[in-house]
Amino acid sequence: MTEPLKYEVAPSILAADFARLGEEIGKVESVSGRIHVDVMDGHYVPNLTIGVPVIRSIRKVTDLILDVHLMVTDPLRFVVPFAEAGSDVITVHVETLENPIEAIELIRSVGKKAGLSIHPDTPVEVLFPYLAMLDNVLIMSVRPGFGGQEFMPEAMGRIRRIRAEMDRMKSSATLSVDGGISKENARAVVNAGGRILVIGSAVFESINPKKAVEDILKCAM
Ligand code: DX5
Ligand code: ZN
Repeated sequence: MTEPLKYEVAPSILAADFARLGEEIGKVESVSGRIHVDVMDGHYVPNLTIGVPVIRSIRKVTDLILDVHLMVTDPLRFVVPFAEAGSDVITVHVETLENPIEAIELIRSVGKKAGLSIHPDTPVEVLFPYLAMLDNVLIMSVRPGFGGQEFMPEAMGRIRRIRAEMDRMKSSATLSVDGGISKENARAVVNAGGRILVIGSAVFESINPKKAVEDILKCAM
């Protein structure tokens, strides 16, 4: 008998009410194992979001895994402060690094799980040399910078290609897919090989975020 696929939703607080972050996280705590936190610097991406003090504050109100997605130029400068603030997984963009191995080693050296993310314009093969070293691979299915965008159809083939390479290498890293996911396409994302569905709008813009997560999980089955 084949085992059922394991997948989960990582609610992205980018779509939450920033005046009530603690309460917003509380709404999804019983149905999620992790919270996705988008850090943007207005340079690598054309938008600004949150930084270290916000991570420190939400660390105090939740035991969920804090999965921090750094969309910043020169992310190595920020690894230690984000680690000290309470991040559990730190994912940086491969396009922002001269030496991805150095970044992975730095993140590990502060006791955190290391992830590499890839922009839709970057060929997926760029990640292949690092797959065996990673704890998390994050494929962007929208152009990084904003929530609420449409899923790019070409992301499906990219997820499949990375999944195939990860399976070939027997990688145990999580494969996250970020952007434009809802109950309409969750199943296709899981079928393509995604295991962590990063979802902002379809969770936090719903009247009942907990039920939204449950519905998406059911649809992905
Ligand atoms: C976009 C962010 C995403 C975003 C996803 O740059 O990385 O994590 O929050 O939001 P939705 O689900 O609204 O596309
Ligand atoms: Zn993200």
